[in-house]
Amino acid sequence: MSLLFKVLLVLQLSFLLLSLTSTIASVAGEADVEAFEEIMSPYPRQPIKRPSRDRVAVQGVVYCKSCKYQGNDTLLDASPLPGAVVKLECNNTRKPITVEGVADKNGYFLIQAPKKVSTYGVHKCKVFAYSASLIWCQTRTDLNGGINGAALKYQKTSPKSLPFALYTVGPFAFDPTCQP
Ligand SMILES: *[C@@H]1O[C@H](CO)[C@@H](O)[C@H](O)[C@H]1NC(C)=O
Ligand SMILES: *[C@@H]1O[C@H](CO)[C@@H](O)[C@H](O)[C@H]1NC(C)=O
Repeated sequence: MSLLFKVLLVLQLSFLLLSLTSTIASVAGEADVEAFEEIMSPYPRQPIKRPSRDRVAVQGVVYCKSCKYQGNDTLLDASPLPGAVVKLECNNTRKPITVEGVADKNGYFLIQAPKKVSTYGVHKCKVFAYSASLIWCQTRTDLNGGINGAALKYQKTSPKSLPFALYTVGPFAFDPTCQP
């Protein structure tokens, strides 16, 4: 074989490998690409300790405050606020991801974040108290970040049997419309 031919053959082979790699990379997910690169790498990589990438869910409770303590940052005599809407907002992607949750009859809500949001990026998320269903208890308060956004706090669960990592925010509160 001539030298030129050999060089051409090598170039062609490496091009083939390259296009194969990018095809697989675009088909597979990000995590799979990492695994694939690891296999393809001629040098064994040092294992990198990453935060785990579990699915994320966030829970909390929404209250309607008592007229006795209107304008005061307390949940004394407050009652659960069923139907209150809260929003989980995450800036993991170029366009923010927003998911709504609705409080049940106990004022409790649980929002499961979309797959794109993992424990790895949960610090880019906040939860907001958004709206209330009861007309006499409509005014948002910033208690625990209801207006400015609440950071998600990891909630240890035992036994760890949930299909997601559980976080907690709040409790949030709305102010009622009170008779003078
Ligand atoms: C608000 O809370 C503070 C501290 O507990 C208390 O001293 C004050 O009287 C409260 N104000 C109202 C309007 O209840
Ligand atoms: C996401 O980014 C926007 C624009 O910078 C910002 O207004 C918003 O508060 C951010 N949201 C969170 C949850 O950090």
